[in-house]
Amino acid sequence: MLTEHVTLETLITDSVAKKHLPQGGLRHAVITAENAFELANERQLCVDIATKAGLLHDIGHTTWEHQGEWDYESYNYYDIHTIKGAERAHELLIFKGEDLSKARTVALAILFHSDSSPISENVELTPLQQLVFDADDMDELKDKERHNLEIDFAEALERVRRLDMLVYQSLQNCSALQCKDCNGRVGETDAEKRD
Ligand SMILES: [Fe+2]
Ligand SMILES: [Fe+2]
Repeated sequence: MLTEHVTLETLITDSVAKKHLPQGGLRHAVITAENAFELANERQLCVDIATKAGLLHDIGHTTWEHQGEWDYESYNYYDIHTIKGAERAHELLIFKGEDLSKARTVALAILFHSDSSPISENVELTPLQQLVFDADDMDELKDKERHNLEIDFAEALERVRRLDMLVYQSLQNCSALQCKDCNGRVGETDAEKRD
């Protein structure tokens, strides 16, 4: 399994991620992946899916700056970054050879990671989706700062490599032994698993 494992490093160094992650903020992407790792450990959810969704959750962002200021009025009304992000992350993951179930779970967690979109109205989040929502919210910086304060790519890469090591260790100790044993459905409710 692990020889075919798609790492966070593989994702963050791809040209699609390099182009789009800075729109939402590279610092914010990395810190959300780190938060997702901590929460996944606490909540006994899949660290692999959680960190991938955390890293890529804002890959659908575009710039909402107007004359140097974040234009919240336009953002609140027109934003569809959760939809674009879900599709973009899914395409990137599949391109890298990700397990289809995991790619789907990551994409859906990104789709529902923010209540900024009407698409999240009346949706009951799975535990994994709630985790990504919470990991995003744990960033102590809010709004404009969250998306504008940056770290350089070398620091992002170093922190992502550290996470890759931790995820690797967790996967080796995973009770499912192979990801196909849980079919990438970690974090879903029992009712959904029966469907
Ligand atoms: Fe977001
Ligand atoms: Fe975010």
